[in-house]
Amino acid sequence: MTPNLDQLERESLDALKAVADPSALESWRITYLGAKGKARTALASIKDVPTPEKPAYGARANAVCRALEEAFKSRQAELGSPRAVASGGPMLDVTEPGMLASRGLGRRHILTRVIDDLSDVFARMGFTVAQGPELEDDEHNFVKLNIPPSHPAREASDNFYIDDPERVASPRMLRSQTSTVQVRVMEAAVAEARKAVEQGRAEVDGGLLGPIKVVAPGRVYRPDAVDATHSFMFHQIEGLSIDRRVTMVDLKATLLQFARAYFGPDSRIRLRPSFFPFTEPSAELDMMIALNPDQPPRWIELGGCGMVHPNVLRACGVDPEVWSGFAFGFGIERLAMGKHAIPDIRMIFENDLRFLRQL
Ligand code: DAH
Repeated sequence: MTPNLDQLERESLDALKAVADPSALESWRITYLGAKGKARTALASIKDVPTPEKPAYGARANAVCRALEEAFKSRQAELGSPRAVASGGPMLDVTEPGMLASRGLGRRHILTRVIDDLSDVFARMGFTVAQGPELEDDEHNFVKLNIPPSHPAREASDNFYIDDPERVASPRMLRSQTSTVQVRVMEAAVAEARKAVEQGRAEVDGGLLGPIKVVAPGRVYRPDAVDATHSFMFHQIEGLSIDRRVTMVDLKATLLQFARAYFGPDSRIRLRPSFFPFTEPSAELDMMIALNPDQPPRWIELGGCGMVHPNVLRACGVDPEVWSGFAFGFGIERLAMGKHAIPDIRMIFENDLRFLRQL
């Protein structure tokens, strides 16, 4: 008996419509298009067809097979093949031990996190973050900061000069302090103010369009012998606030607020009179910090600060009769060591994972 090809086509296409998932589709394929499936059987049945009808039967059987194959392919495209699902699904072996985020995924280096935290604290006090080049010149590192040629900080043996200071007028050097960014920020603000005036956009008073409030974290370089508290490369965060009638009270209030925000509400600070060429008056900032959790807190020197010297303002094109300001510069490693009880600066740079993973 030869199969009824029209009926086979109708039945199979109806069944295909009812197929709802890739595994049902696979059963359908086996039933109709498999080696022993109904379509193949119908093709093979040609041997039972009387000879005069063979060509017509063969043509029709082939057409039905092709129609079923086409229909199968388009249904497969809609549902996806069983194998595609197996490889595209989640390759998750639930018997594997879990991956601890703290061990397996890595983290940002402690210094990066401290710099971000410090920037956050100062941002809440209205400071934006500024940056300056690490390859500087003597003009920005010393001259405009009111550091005279005879100052010991300018000694060739105390700096990483790139050009010979004996021969080049403003020799390039790796900056020895982030105070350079004070100069760069003021110069940029003065240039912007000049442009605004030329274009008739704004009124400028004393060289500036308005107040400046920036912090500048970054690397500095000094040829120091490496020990528990010194490194030839370390980080500072510089602060500069320029406004009308800024006083030492603003400076001290800002530093106290910073200390409390970063080290906790019980933090104490102390200003000791000091000298820096670019500030007058100048002070050293100490904070009461427990460097080692087993020891009582003690006064730790964090850096210098003071009221920006009128010569520095003038060198940058800012009129000291109109504007005044305070500045500060702290060692970031010192802050990190105080905050995280790190006893030796070298641990921060050695990148021993056993140490870094504890922070
Ligand atoms: N630049 C100084 C240093 O590296 C630190 C410093 C002191 C920065 C006083 C300041 C400041 O802005 O006002 O030792």
